[in-house]
This record gives sequence, C-alpha cells and structure tokens, in this order.
Amino acid sequence: MNLPYRPRRLRTNAIVRNMVAETRLSANMLVYPCFVCKGSGIQHPIQAMPGVYHFSPDELVRHAEQWLKLGINKLLIFGTGDAKSDMALSSHDHNSSVPTALRRLKAEFANDLYLMTDVCVCAYTTHGHCGVLAGSLVLNDESVDILSQMALTHAEAGADMVAPSDMMDGRIGYIRNTLDENGFSNIAIMSYAVKYASAYYGPFREAADSSPQSGDRKGYQMDFRNARESLREALLDEQEGADILMVKPALAYLDIIHQLKQQTNLPVACYNVSGEYSMVKAAAQAKLVDEPRIVMENMTAFARAGADIIITYHAKDILQNGWL
Ligand code: PBG
Ligand code: ZN
Repeated sequence: MNLPYRPRRLRTNAIVRNMVAETRLSANMLVYPCFVCKGSGIQHPIQAMPGVYHFSPDELVRHAEQWLKLGINKLLIFGTGDAKSDMALSSHDHNSSVPTALRRLKAEFANDLYLMTDVCVCAYTTHGHCGVLAGSLVLNDESVDILSQMALTHAEAGADMVAPSDMMDGRIGYIRNTLDENGFSNIAIMSYAVKYASAYYGPFREAADSSPQSGDRKGYQMDFRNARESLREALLDEQEGADILMVKPALAYLDIIHQLKQQTNLPVACYNVSGEYSMVKAAAQAKLVDEPRIVMENMTAFARAGADIIITYHAKDILQNGWL
C-alpha cells in the first residue's frame, strides 16, 4: 500500500511512544486524602476502603514521614470521631481531631508537607447533613457562617489550604472574607466547586460516619443530569475568590472536567472518590482486572480530560510501587 500517513510508525517502541506521549503524569499532581481521629496509637482499617485507615494524630505524623519519602507532599485531611451536635460545634473546636493533627504535622514537617483540609460539617452534625437544619431544610447562610469558623480554625492550626465540600451557596466568598479579615489572606481555597450528589461516596460515609440520618444531599449537591450548571457553579466560585476548582467524582465526570478546563484559567482538580477507589480494589482483589494498569489508565484519563491535580486514595500505591 502506498500510504502517506502511517500512525503506527510512532508506536514502534517504548522510546518513541514515550517521546510523543501527550499526557504526562507526575507525583506533583497527586494529593493523598487521609482520615484523622482523636486519641493516640490508633491505626484502624476502614473496611470499605482496603489500604485506608483512621489514624490518630501521632500515627498520622509517623505515616506522613513514610509518605513524604515516597514523594507524597500534599495531604487532604478529614476529621472523624469528634463529638456530634445539631450545630456542629466540634467542627470549629481547636481541640478536635483536625486542628490537633494540623498542629502536630506543622510542628514536625513545617513547610515540607502541604496541608489541605476538607471543610464540611457532615461528620460533626448529629443528623449528618452538610449544614445546619431547620426541620428538614438545610439552612444556607447559617451553615456558611459555621463553615467559615471551621475554615478559620483550620487556618489557625496550620492548614495551608482549605477545601470547602459542602455546596452551600456563597461559601467561597464568605470564607475568603473571614480568612482575610483574620490575617490569613495567604491561605488558599480549593473549592469543591462541582460536586454531584453521587452514590460513589458510599465507602467514604463509612469512613467519616457522615451519612445523613434522613433524606439525601440532593438539596445542595448537584444533579448528575446537569453539565451546564456545573460551569455556573464553578464560575461563581471563581468570582468569589477560589484558587482551585475541583470536580467530584472524577471517573464518571470526565466530560465535566474537560468542559471546565476550557472555561477557566484556574487550576482544575478532580477527586477520584472512595467508591471509585473501592470498585477498583474489589475488582483487583477478585483478579478481574490488573490493578497497576487500571489505576494508571484512570489517572491518565483524569489528566487527559484536563485535571491539573488528582486527589486519590491510590496515591500511596502509585508511588510506593513505582507505577508512574
Ligand atoms: C463531605 C465530603 C464527602 C466526600 C468528601 N467530602 C462525602 C459526601 O459529600 O457525602 C466524599 C469523598 C469520597 O467519597 O472519597 N461533604
Ligand atoms: Zn458534607
């Protein structure tokens, strides 16, 4: 055959394939989520998420040292096991698990480890909703005020970046303002800007003990039938002062990541959530798929779709086993 173009020429061997690869992953893109609880000496496995644990602050420090050696230098920290109340009081208590862990981690690692925190009250409310309730209604503005106190508490304890995951309206601007007024204009905000009401959060809710006791989160998290609305959400957060825009979940929402990347000049993050992680783990344990290959195919898909930052429970396995 007389063919002017033979695309296979550039697939001849690994050297040439690597030379022309359009998507390149790096450890710098990866953020490792972790769960902290109060107490000491605790490393408690989360059944629904093989390889993920609840750590007390001392154990988190001990493990973070290992993770740093692997090249993980960014954590996204979730608090668990703190007292629950209707008004989520322990969400902004300086002695709760997250502020305690932040102080320990900063004291130990200073600026070698970049500390991000999830800001949401669902692990701190008796009813498990991401805001305060009046009857069955999740109040927006009252919740935003509590979230801003939570973000401030984290900043005071040493967080470098706060990540509001509640989906209340106007919280990014309000939190930005609260941080600025209290001398924390240098603390960044990564907005869970596009967060869908998703069944993929199932395993996480066991980890954080944050399932709503009644109803669901559809009154604040987004409807997965909507794509254009995700751009409205994201661009509002950009106007309110978000530094990074996140899409969550990731795998079933690659189209959203891609569209958002075309619409913003801010860095775009995606959250490869608990259900996505546990499905891969379960399939790999059942020998239905090859874990390293499927994990890296997923990571590459996130980057190819436009994600600059990937938040993933796979981060440790990826770096520990040299999958990059
Ligand atoms: C809290 C929060 C959730 C996740 C991150 N922050 C759960 C939820 O909204 O129900 C999910 C993370 C995961 O599934 O890995 N609002
Ligand atoms: Zn929540």
